[in-house]
Formats: sequence, C-alpha cells, structure tokens
Amino acid sequence: MHQLLPFLRCPASRTRLNHEDDWLISGTGIRYPITNGIPRLLIPTKTPEEERIRQTMQAFYERFTFPGYDDIDSPGVLVNKAKKSAFGLWVDQAIPATATVLEVGCGTGQMTNFLGLVTTRTVIGADMSAASLALGQGFKERFGLKNVHFVQGNIFAMPVAEGSVDVLLCSGVLHHTPDPEGGYRKILKLVKPNGTILIGLYNRYARIPLGIRQVIFKATGNLSRALDAHMRRKDVDQSKKEIWFADQYKNPHESWHSVDEVLGWFDDSGVKFLSGVPAISKTLPEETDGLRLFREHPRGSALEHIVRQLGWMFTIGREGGLFVMVGTKDAP
Ligand SMILES: C[S@@+](CC[C@H](N)C(=O)[O-])C[C@H]1O[C@@H](n2cnc3c(N)ncnc32)[C@H](O)[C@@H]1O
Repeated sequence: MHQLLPFLRCPASRTRLNHEDDWLISGTGIRYPITNGIPRLLIPTKTPEEERIRQTMQAFYERFTFPGYDDIDSPGVLVNKAKKSAFGLWVDQAIPATATVLEVGCGTGQMTNFLGLVTTRTVIGADMSAASLALGQGFKERFGLKNVHFVQGNIFAMPVAEGSVDVLLCSGVLHHTPDPEGGYRKILKLVKPNGTILIGLYNRYARIPLGIRQVIFKATGNLSRALDAHMRRKDVDQSKKEIWFADQYKNPHESWHSVDEVLGWFDDSGVKFLSGVPAISKTLPEETDGLRLFREHPRGSALEHIVRQLGWMFTIGREGGLFVMVGTKDAP
C-alpha cells in the first residue's frame, strides 16, 4: 500500500488518504475499506440519471467480468496474448520502463498486469466492477507483481491525484458511460503535463456491421450467433466467447465515436495528437515492424479519415470496431 498511497486521493473531498489497518481515511474523516487487498473508493456519479446508468453498467460487469480470464494462468500466456493483438505489444514498447501507468476501466486487469510485468513501472488498474478487479488482483498476487495495484473507483470521481501519472490508458470504457467526453476530461486531469493519454472507443463506421448483427440477433433470439467471426474462432474457449457475446451484443449502454470527434476532444483540451490505432493517416518510414504509438504522426484530412474508417468495417470491425487515439498533454 505504501507505493500506491501517494497516488490516491479521497474521491469525495480530494484530500490525501491515510492508511490504518484495513482502512483508508481521508483528511475529512471519510473511511474507505480495503477488502482483499483492494481499496474500495467507489462513490456515485453526481447526477441521478448518470448514476442510474452507472449502476446498470456495474451490475452488468459484476456478472460479465471482461475480458475473460479462464485460460490466462501465467505471465507467459499474457505476453502471448499481447503479441497476438499487436496493440498490447506496441503499448508496452512505447511506455518507458520507469513510468507510472493508470489503466482506467481495467476490467479484469489483463493489460494492467501485462504492463506490470516490467517491474520498474508502477501500474494501477481502476474499475468499478469488484468481481473483475478480484480476478486481476488474484493474478497479481499469484505471480508476485508488487508494482501492480488495483483500486475500485468511478471514472467520474477517480480516487487518483491530479497530474500524477505519466501514461493513462482507457480503452473500451468511455463509450459505456452516459458522458464519454466529460469522462475523458475528468481522467485527463490525472495525467502529468507532457504525459500521454490513450483512449479506445467503438468506431462509428467500423461498428456498423456489428450493429446490423445486433439487430439480427435481437430479432432471431441469438439463433444465428455464428454470424459473428469471434464466435466462430477455434482458439477461444466457450466461456470467454459467452463473455464477449454479452459485452458486444447485450450491453445495456454503448455509444459510437469517430476519429475527428476525438481529435476535437484533444484540440479542445490542450492535447496534441500523436497516433491512432489503426493508423488514421500515413505511418512513419521506420514503422515497418509496428506502430510507434508515442511518436507524432501526420493527422491527415477529414476526408482521409472517413475513407479509412469505412475500410475499418472489414478489418477491426470483425472484432468489435475499437480504435485507439493517443495524445500528449501540453504543459501549462
Ligand atoms: C468492456 S470492459 C473493458 C475492460 C478493459 N479496458 C479491456 O479493454 O479489456 C469496460 C469496463 O469499464 C468499466 N466501467 C464502465 N463504466 C465505468 C465507470 N463509470 N467507472 C469505472 N469503471 C467503469 C466496467 O466495469 C468494465 O470493466
């Protein structure tokens, strides 16, 4: 807890937290329990309508702990999984060995634990789902990853100090909240000046085929689930497929976003665009073996973005249509 404590703040009063036995206590006397090694720092979102959606989403992710953990039984398996997705590997290559990393909406913490295999990093995974966090914490404890920490918290009241982390990753999360841009602005505050933020969202174009399948599954009572390429995969076990299916087709709340929309968020919040995954314009000459996520790339034009995003229907669209935008926060 001593390594984590300097990064934590009371989500209600924003004061520092003191550690006493199984409790964290704020400067204003609010007490938060630490259960099974995880500080429980979840407080409600401010408006009742947003809180209603958050609670629905929490109930969903307490039941469907995403991503599935079933066959992840060693650090080697995590590394192989990251290599297969390429994105995980590129993130790992881009993040310096001594960085402080915060993954917001870490789910079962596979990426958090993977990034924490570099033991000189401090890696914090935050999520509201206690069941998901328990899986991440179990892996961390089994393999003695002392530099990895999990906390329960709400994106809209993150229990993390402002300007404290070098790299913030939030992928597959904001589109499940009622206010994705508001959530982005909240978590950006936690990043140090010149730090890096990676935001992964469902793409407005790439997700169209999946949206069509959502309608078909609704109409046919899921009879035609094999229409989804992921459900046909032979290398993924059944329980993970069920979690995937629920996450993609039964999710109570999701929204879709475009490259130019996120570029607008970046521009309005003093964040310089670095890269996109998939690439949103030309790649760099040295990127023959993978993208260098933290290098500055050409932004391209709005027309180029539309053409590329339409093409994504046939590439990333097969696996849910998630794209990632990387930016660096300007120093004030
Ligand atoms: C689809 S999962 C993504 C997990 C992980 N980032 C990944 O890419 O595999 C979405 C996660 O976001 C979390 N989440 C959604 N809204 C949240 C909120 N308001 N505060 C904290 N976590 C939230 C859910 O609990 C869930 O674990």
